[in-house]
This record gives sequence, C-alpha cells and structure tokens, in this order.
Amino acid sequence: MTITTNFEEVYQKIAALVKINPEDLLYRICELLKQEVYHYDWVGFYILDQEKNELVLSPFVGKPTQHTHIAVGKGICGQVAASGQTMVVQDVTQVENYISCGLEVQSEIVVPVLKNGKFVAELDIDSHSPAPFTDDDKTFLDKVCDLLVDCF
Ligand code: SME
Repeated sequence: MTITTNFEEVYQKIAALVKINPEDLLYRICELLKQEVYHYDWVGFYILDQEKNELVLSPFVGKPTQHTHIAVGKGICGQVAASGQTMVVQDVTQVENYISCGLEVQSEIVVPVLKNGKFVAELDIDSHSPAPFTDDDKTFLDKVCDLLVDCF
C-alpha cells in the first residue's frame, strides 16, 4: 500500500505547534508525526547526556522500548550521535550495528538536532514498512529538527 504524505502540510502543523510552544511540545510532535505519516510507526526523541556520553530516551509514541539509554556509537541512534549525520536504513536486517526494538520494525530513519553545529539530540523513527523512506522524508525531518533546536 502506498499512501502519499503532504509533507508541507504536516510541516505547517508542526510549525504552528512550535509557535504555541505547549509544555509537552516534543510529545505532541511525536504524536502528530505518527498520526500524519502512514509509515511512521514509532517516533521518539533521544537527548544526549554529554557527561555520560549516552543518549537518553525522551518523549516518544509507540511501543515502549527497553532501550532507554544508548551509548554514543552503538546502534543506528548511537552512530548518528557520533557522526551528526542523518542515517536512513531501508532494511534493518542488512545492517550490523543495529539495536532491535521488535521484529515488526523493518526500517528506520534517525535525524540529528544540531545546535551551532553540535549534536544535542535526535529524532528516531521506526517503520513497519519495507524501504518506505525517500528524500522527501529526509528533507522534511531535517526541517522539523531545525525548528526544534531551542528545545534542547
Ligand atoms: N533501533 C535503534 C534503537 C532505538 S529504537 O529504534 C527505539 C538503534 O539501532 O539505535
């Protein structure tokens, strides 16, 4: 099944929410992303704990995960924290440094939030669809993360 997303429309909804700046902004953004984009099944933020050099799970929607703390360098999330670059994994069975959050997950995209060029947090999205991500996802999520720099 292919369901096309109007990313511009979803972006405008997120921008409106950022403007209102509710206390639970990050959670609301997770909810909105999961609801609006068919192939986003688990959406969450990990924030860098600089002292411990690890990522800490922050607001998320979807199945609870045991991976609440991830060392920098470990898994897709940890690799993005180390490199500061977006990672798109269209088939999680094909990568070695991957931490599984459930057999239903087929693909994943992780986008960094950079503050003055420094990694501070990331947006992690798991999908139950095979190879669902396109450049449009990346461009859209980069823009979303840019909007959120001041939250971290
Ligand atoms: N799959 C991630 C772990 C986090 S879960 O997707 C919520 C990884 O390999 O880092």
